[in-house]
Amino acid sequence: MDDMDLVTVASGYMERARAPYSHFKVGAALLCSDGTVFGGCNVENASYGATMCAERCAASTAVAEGKTEFVKIAVVGGHYGIIKDFTAPCGICRQFLSELCGAEFEVLLYDGENIKKKTLGELLPDSFSLEKEYDND
Ligand code: THU
Repeated sequence: MDDMDLVTVASGYMERARAPYSHFKVGAALLCSDGTVFGGCNVENASYGATMCAERCAASTAVAEGKTEFVKIAVVGGHYGIIKDFTAPCGICRQFLSELCGAEFEVLLYDGENIKKKTLGELLPDSFSLEKEYDND
């Protein structure tokens, strides 16, 4: 699966977003090291803080399916699902991913035309962790 394929999967999941409050739909597609892909979308709640972001939705689904090794994630988003600009993971998602993935894990962003690649280490330098191992125990 190449980078644009992963972006396409993320775009499909974006369509499933539940965003009645912000109308900002986000989709994510997480590639695991065994080649499997898990998607996610944002799921908003009237108690706004309970909202689940697309990236954490995808990562949690993958973990629940027993996946522990991750390669990259594609993230797309836009108001009413119209992709016009890059949507980067929020701070909570960066922290969440940093505990599951290493600093070299790739984050693919898409503005409807171009893919921009960042590593998780670039997006969250000097990240907080209790231990520098990613063993999922
Ligand atoms: N959102 C995500 O799904 N991922 C992010 O990393 C940024 C924000 C969602 C949360 C909320 O439903 C909407 O985008 C607007 O903030």
